[in-house]
Amino acid sequence: MNILVTGGAGFIGTNFVKYMLSHHDYKIVNLDALTYAGNINNLKDIENHTNYHFIKGDICDRDLINDIFKKYKIDTVINFAAESHVDRSIEEPEVFLKSNILGTEVLLDTAVNYWKLDPNDKYSRDFKEDVKFIQVSTDEVYGELGKEGLFTEQTPLAPNSPYSASKASGDLIVRAYHETYGLPVNITRCSNNYGPYQFPEKLIPLMINNALKGEDLPIYGDGKQVRDWLHVDDHCEAIDTVLHKGKVGEVYNIGGNNEKENIEIVKLILTKLEKSEELIKHVTDRLGHDRRYAIDNTKITTELGWEPKYTFEQGIEVTIKWYLENTDWMESIVTGDYLTYYDQMYGKR
Ligand code: NAD
Ligand code: TYD
Repeated sequence: MNILVTGGAGFIGTNFVKYMLSHHDYKIVNLDALTYAGNINNLKDIENHTNYHFIKGDICDRDLINDIFKKYKIDTVINFAAESHVDRSIEEPEVFLKSNILGTEVLLDTAVNYWKLDPNDKYSRDFKEDVKFIQVSTDEVYGELGKEGLFTEQTPLAPNSPYSASKASGDLIVRAYHETYGLPVNITRCSNNYGPYQFPEKLIPLMINNALKGEDLPIYGDGKQVRDWLHVDDHCEAIDTVLHKGKVGEVYNIGGNNEKENIEIVKLILTKLEKSEELIKHVTDRLGHDRRYAIDNTKITTELGWEPKYTFEQGIEVTIKWYLENTDWMESIVTGDYLTYYDQMYGKR
């Protein structure tokens, strides 16, 4: 396979590129705009791998995407590239719409042009064999749950934040390209990921970093919001499974069966790090804060045979260990040093 991974310098993309290089003999082109969330430093250990090539660029750049498809004979796209932080989307929604919706459309359009058996026949829905577009989406497109119930693939889309609305819009464009043109696609919707290389604006790395430094741990509102946590290695394996076994046109929910309240997680981190709960500080709640997300993963487990390997207790243990062993990585993020790495290695952006 010649796979275009977009957003591969972000948290999940980094883990996914490494996972794929170690599990398969596929060529991977990693296209990433290196926004504040993209860290090329994450990929230092594989930058000379024969099956790997990095390109700095934006998924909205049509000419660039065309050139990449042509030059690298791309037959598979896995689209991770997105603005991903809910809090930022509340402050500045526009960039979310550009990357998460318009960027997705540029990738889809290019895929149709390159993968159609006869690009000049506008009524043909025949595509080359073994091509696929995977859209990496989120359970947040379903909105929020009350105390009971789980999101299934049939749950209506009801996104509440600018972030989740942009992801839901991206999903609908992907669906439309399948229904209209016959493009072979899958959409995956996963719950909250955690693990190595997560940018410390997200709950778990933020709390680990602040606790280690003895700084306040800001809990939004009462901290009783529930998320369903998925270790990033389990997520990578699930995407690999969908890539190989997913039925064209289908949506797959990916969840770890690990529902936790935010406050429980923060207390667990403090206990593991032997820090005082006095660091916890309840702050004003996030606007439109979704109360609970939880995934029903029956479809992917029964139809494709994937299941999560980590319990939350195992996953948080290895995750905390990783952050403790990689304090330099965290420090380079917090000080912004990682932003200069690309310039040093590859010249000015
Ligand atoms: P992240 O913010 O850590 O990484 C996103 C990456 O995309 C960054 O490297 C960034 O530079 C790149 N990017 C952003 N806009 C781009 C553009 N226009 N062109 C090219 N590259 C661009 O995000 P993440 O946590 O790794 O999430 C990856 C994907 O998974 C996203 O699509 C997100 O919506 C989805 N997702 C994440 C979670 C989670 O818990 N982290 C949960 C569900 C779904
Ligand atoms: P986050 O990691 O931003 O992921 P998402 O918003 O996609 O679920 O937040 C996870 C939960 O933690 C969410 O309910 C908001 C909450 N949270 C805090 O209470 N304090 C914080 O400082 C952060 C970043 C998040």
